Amino acid sequence: MKHQHEHHHSANAADEAAMAELLDLDAEVLHAYLSDVTAWLKEMTGDRPPRRILDLGSGTGTGTFALLKRFERADATALDISPHMLRHLGHKARDLGVAGRVRAVQADLGVAWPSLGPVDLVWAASSMHHMADPPHVLAEVFKALRPGGLLVVSEMDSFPRFLPDDLGLGRPGLEARVHAARDGGPADAASAHLSPAGFTLEAKRSFVIDLRDPLPAAARRYAQVSLRRVRAHLDGLLDAGDLATLDTLIDGDGPDGVLRRDDLAVRSTRTVWVARRP
Ligand SMILES: C[S@@+](CC[C@H](N)C(=O)[O-])C[C@H]1O[C@@H](n2cnc3c(N)ncnc32)[C@H](O)[C@@H]1O
Repeated sequence: MKHQHEHHHSANAADEAAMAELLDLDAEVLHAYLSDVTAWLKEMTGDRPPRRILDLGSGTGTGTFALLKRFERADATALDISPHMLRHLGHKARDLGVAGRVRAVQADLGVAWPSLGPVDLVWAASSMHHMADPPHVLAEVFKALRPGGLLVVSEMDSFPRFLPDDLGLGRPGLEARVHAARDGGPADAASAHLSPAGFTLEAKRSFVIDLRDPLPAAARRYAQVSLRRVRAHLDGLLDAGDLATLDTLIDGDGPDGVLRRDDLAVRSTRTVWVARRP
């Protein structure tokens, strides 16, 4: 399964804190994408906007808060296996003034679900590919949704790209080799299981993200934190020259480092499936 080796949900606090920072940066840098998706959902739900929302594998609440902003009369339940993520989400809810509209529930979606329904909309962003048994999860989603309710699944097609092909560091094509070493295919763990679980696929849409220089500071930090996560799993998979160059890019505060280069981009594609419980 894609990214599996990077997504252990151990009690490693430093790792969880780094993941939380990455998720927050993702939300900040990709706010236009989130706004586009929620606007699309608003169109799709028309005169019956969701009032009760469930965010599966909520992380730090990127989807929860984007949906609460778009659907002003809605409440959300954010569900995650990680108490760290949920605590972080709770602080953000207070900062954003929506604490009264969010309930954080700690649970392992792969095991028994707490009683959560009925809800109007279930959101699962970059979380379905973590599930060892998608049919089990989809059966639970089906039960939690009211008839007519929507399940929205979003996944990254591949890890985001940041670097130009020619870095000027004698290592052209470095990022392509990084991706090849990670052996990731599109993370689409759920869509094949939607119909068998009883859902009707209403729509599938790809959102292309292509941010170019001048990038805001958050995007540079996003590149740095993302590449650091990848780097942690590359020992022995790339040659020493590539690894040293990657280290210069992510750790150096000189002109070659990602925090200071003027040739970075943020390129990614996210696919979103919308399915309905008939
Ligand atoms: C890549 S993050 C995505 C977070 C958020 N949905 C977003 O789009 O920013 C995946 C999240 O799924 C959670 N997760 C992974 N396996 C889980 C499980 N079995 N039950 C509940 N949550 C899980 C992780 O703790 C993590 O917060």
